[in-house]
Amino acid sequence: MPNPFKPTAGRIPPVLVGREEIIDDFDYAITDGVGSPGRLMFLTGARGVGKTVMLDALGERARQHGWEVVNESADHGFTKRLADALTGKDTTRISAYEMPSLGANGTLGNIELSLGRVELERKEERSLTLRQAVGARLDKMNENKQGILITLDEVQSGTMDEIRALSTAVQHLIREGRNIAFVFAGLPSAVNDVLSDNAITFLQRAERHHLGSVPAEKVLEAFEESFGGEKKAGMETLIRLTNATHGYPFMIQLVGYWAWRMSETNGHGERVTDEDAVQGIEKARAKLGDMVHAPALRGLPAQAINYLLAMSVDDGVSNTGEVARRMNRSPQFGNVYRTMLIENDLIEPVGYGEVTFKMPYLRDYLREHGAYLQMRENISELGGGEVSESKPSEGELGEH
Ligand SMILES: Nc1ncnc2c1ncn2[C@@H]1O[C@H](COP(=O)(O)OP(=O)(O)OP(=O)(O)O)[C@@H](O)[C@H]1O
Ligand SMILES: [Mg+2]
Repeated sequence: MPNPFKPTAGRIPPVLVGREEIIDDFDYAITDGVGSPGRLMFLTGARGVGKTVMLDALGERARQHGWEVVNESADHGFTKRLADALTGKDTTRISAYEMPSLGANGTLGNIELSLGRVELERKEERSLTLRQAVGARLDKMNENKQGILITLDEVQSGTMDEIRALSTAVQHLIREGRNIAFVFAGLPSAVNDVLSDNAITFLQRAERHHLGSVPAEKVLEAFEESFGGEKKAGMETLIRLTNATHGYPFMIQLVGYWAWRMSETNGHGERVTDEDAVQGIEKARAKLGDMVHAPALRGLPAQAINYLLAMSVDDGVSNTGEVARRMNRSPQFGNVYRTMLIENDLIEPVGYGEVTFKMPYLRDYLREHGAYLQMRENISELGGGEVSESKPSEGELGEH
């Protein structure tokens, strides 16, 4: 029996739980026509909450309407890759802006351009190339019915120049009444950084969906469906599995996948017993550490990790003053990291001066890996750079 769960990053899972509303909104925006607000959208949320999967799901929906979809990730060079994908050819043009070294032999006569001007020209050119690429592609389509959706994943301020160029292109295309839609996705703090740029006020008007956990009833429904065919589970087991996910999308796939797999391993064929469920949940928890917690922590500044470590000492909520004391820092200092962690959905405020973990199992993960993380911070503070990533897998350090 094939396992219906797929705990793979960024693939549309066989059961996409609790996101119908956003997909329906987008669907409406496509049929609603040019200028519909839902055609410009930002998706934010923690690691593993399902941003990439949503981009794919929206892309799928657009295709069903006969649209063309171009997906890109916002790392260096994405504007060029977008233009190439749209035109089907290499858009690198031999110009002084793209290849400054050519200017030196005098053939292009642009050697006198100051560096600042070259930068400006390059940005404008990028934007124009993109705009023309989208326009030319639309010209070949039946624009009354078909449009182009561009999705941009992993938005980050590191490629701000290109995001500005894209933003300008989109703004013009929308103003020209072209049949297009743009959806961007990124971690909340990264998206905030990008949106604080004054050059892209236009993008700040995009509809924003902050993806969070999905309701328990929806998770239970999905499990009932997946474990209601060739392989079945009793209600008590289904509830146990549901509770273990905390509604966190990546955990839905992991828990489902490992419960299914443990029932096979234990030779239970057509049933998932409570024992399979308990073992599956344990496995899922360890995998979540490797696949979500570890990368999420890697992207944080050292002091933010220290803040989390200081919190992980508590069994329940943490007092923010006490956390700062544990870090040997002032409350104001602690507050900077508190804000950042809340923004990224790793922790949440629960009362005046109190915070608790929001990302499921992060506390347990920190307790299990605290010493290692601390060592990594100490090394980077001493200027030793990054610790090699080829450490033993987190799963091996934790319980299995
Ligand atoms: N609504 C959902 N229902 C069930 N499973 C989901 C849902 N959304 C995402 N998943 C599953 O969760 C996992 C993570 O999804 P995805 O890679 O899209 O997250 P992400 O937000 O893009 O994470 P990152 O920030 O690390 O890129 C995938 O295995 C995906 O199948
Ligand atoms: Mg992603």
